[in-house]
Formats: sequence, C-alpha cells, structure tokens
Amino acid sequence: MNSTDQHLSADETTLVGSRFLRACLRQPVDCTPVWFLRQAGRYMQEYREIRKYHTLVEICKQPEIAAEVTITAAEKLGVDAAIIFADLLLPLEPMGLDFEFQAGEGPVVHHPVRNAEDVRALRTDRAADLAYVARAIEKVAAHFRDRLGIIGFCGAPYTLASYMIEGGGSKNYIHTKQMMYSDPTAWRSLLDKIVVVLEEYCRLQVEAGADVIQIFDSWVGSLGLADYREYAFEASQRLVRSVQQMGVPVIYFGVETTGLLTQMAATGADVIGLDWRQPLDEGWRAVGHGHAVQGNLDPITLFAPLEVLEQRVHEILRAAGGRPGHIFNLGHGIVPTTPVENVQAVVRMVREFRLK
Ligand code: CP3
Repeated sequence: MNSTDQHLSADETTLVGSRFLRACLRQPVDCTPVWFLRQAGRYMQEYREIRKYHTLVEICKQPEIAAEVTITAAEKLGVDAAIIFADLLLPLEPMGLDFEFQAGEGPVVHHPVRNAEDVRALRTDRAADLAYVARAIEKVAAHFRDRLGIIGFCGAPYTLASYMIEGGGSKNYIHTKQMMYSDPTAWRSLLDKIVVVLEEYCRLQVEAGADVIQIFDSWVGSLGLADYREYAFEASQRLVRSVQQMGVPVIYFGVETTGLLTQMAATGADVIGLDWRQPLDEGWRAVGHGHAVQGNLDPITLFAPLEVLEQRVHEILRAAGGRPGHIFNLGHGIVPTTPVENVQAVVRMVREFRLK
C-alpha cells in the first residue's frame, strides 16, 4: 500500500478496471501505477532487432508487428499500461502530406503547409486509412484484457500543425507562429481540419479497445500563455471533450509547460502530464486536485547511480503524497542509450515504495 487512505481489499482492487485506469479516474489503487513515455523504442534490444528488418512506418502499418512491439516492451518492464506502438505523424498521410523518418534527423515532411491554399488542399475524409492502428490495438487488448491499461494516442492540434508547417522538428517555430499571427483564418482552418481527422482516428482506437487516449502536445511549451489561449487551447479542448464523449479518459501531455498547466487543465482532460521542471506537488497544485497527474521523472535520471535514481523516484512519490490520481511516468520520453535495467529498477522502486 502506498498509504492508509488508499487501503483496499483484494476484491475491491480487482472490481473495476486496471490499476492504471483507476488512477486516471482518481479512484483509490493498491499501488501507484507506472509506465514510461517511449517505453518501446531503440533503448530496447528486442526493438532494435525488429528495426533491422522493418522501418518505423512499416512496423506501425503491420498490426501483428506493432502489437508484438507494444506487448514485448510492456511485459519486459512489468508496467501497468501499454501504449500502442504508432507515431504522432501517421495522420499526416491520409491528410495528403508525405513524410519520412530520416536517420539522425527525425521526421521530414516533403511539402510542408505554408499558406491558406496548402491548408485548403488538406483532406479530412480519409482517417479510416489509419485503421491499421486500431487492428494493432485489438491484438494488444486481446492479449492483456483487463490486466493492463491500453493507451491509444494522437498528437494535439498545435503540435501536429507545427510538424505540418515546419516540415519537421523545429527550434523556434518561425513558420508556425508566422501563420498563426499573419493568417489566423488559415491557422484556425488548419486546426479544425486536424481535429476532424483526430476525432475519427481516436474513435477507431477507442472502438478497438483503447482504455485511455493520450494527447501529446509535445511542443506546446514553445507558446507563451497568451498565445496558447488565443491560438491552441480551444482546438485541444474540443478534441479532449469529443474523446471523453467516446467514453474514455484523456491524458493531456506537454513539455516545458510550467506556465501553461492551469490553462491546459481547463481543457477538462482527466489527467495532465507533467514534465520534470517543477516538483510534482507544485505542478499538481497548478493543475488542480480535481485532475489526475502523470509524471514526472527527468528521463536522464535513468543514467544516474541507483541510489540517486531511487532518491528522485521517492521524492516524486512523496510529493504525490498518496493522493489518488497519480500515475508515475517520466517527464518526457526514454532516450535511445538508456540502460533497460534502470527502467526496470524504477518499476520495482515504485512498487516497493511505502509512504511513511
Ligand atoms: O512506446 C512508445 O512510446 C512508442 C510509440 C511512439 C512512437 N512515437 C514511436 C517512435 C509514440 C508514443 C510516439 C509519439 C511521438 N512521435 C511524439 C510524441 C511524444 C514525444 O516524444 O513528445 C513525437 C513528437 C513524435 C514524432 C517523432 N517520431 C520524432 C520527433 C521522432 C524522431 C525521434 C528520434 O529520436 O529520432 C520519431 C521517431 C520514432 N517514433 C521512434 C519511435 C520508437 C524512434 C525510433 C525509430 O526510428 O525506430
């Protein structure tokens, strides 16, 4: 038990849903659930083996392989949730934008969206092409049933728009902000189109068995609060609400969001992802205790000696204080050279932790 007020009998804990799902809904749990952003990836030998024979996109498009990668990672780590192996950029293709992952450079979109005409050309009627992700979720759900939480995901409108406009990763988001400021009509139309596609994409994932949808607003920290409110918030809120109406909780995650958390929580998302720049209790206060939180270990702590790693894990669990609605995670994704055994050690540390 993490704390006395979370005390439940074995019967009660097995009654409704997984430990992970219960925490998303701020229900009491027997032990803080834990999973990791990018838990299936290059730091794992099994994944590197599969990547020798398949590209990232090939893995995503073959449900058998995507499901295997998802299941292997979750089982090897012994975590409480499995996030479907897919990528944020997959919806670009049915919208009419080709992209590829170039070694060492990350994603490259061949003809980025730069003006109103480009926005008009984007299609919103082919989200069903993403059904391969749903087929993979069905396989993962059939494997784990209620033992683990199954997480479907998509990008948030702002973050996805930034990839479409910049054509890849970015440091300063110049093209994105230029469109936002100089052609707000095209900008809003772009976000509207993205939301239409993402709603259908999320519906496919929920119908296939996703218990929760995580919305990644990975690059929202590039916006100041006023711009987040004016240019990004409403589209995120719309997406959050429509996914919730599908009957599943939503995790809304961003990076470098210290100044945005209160507004992000106003989307109504059930769970807010916290990065590591602020202590968890401060972040949770900003979010409000009416929401669950997920986080917030610095992923690079996984390179520290075990004693230091344990100290950091315990600090986070103490800051959560046994309050229902904490999901242990990193503040951002596992990086490629991370030692797997340290990730496994964190799972043990979370499971063995007792609040004094
Ligand atoms: O277990 C998992 O989390 C794997 C599933 C997953 C991937 N991408 C596979 C992937 C998830 C949840 C994502 C989300 C994703 N993709 C995000 C949001 C999460 C975040 O980190 O904020 C973003 C921004 C992307 C876009 C993306 N995909 C980038 C920037 C890159 C390049 C990163 C790099 O280090 O090269 C990718 C490639 C990618 N997607 C990899 C994986 C495992 C890298 C490994 C590979 O090439 O096989």
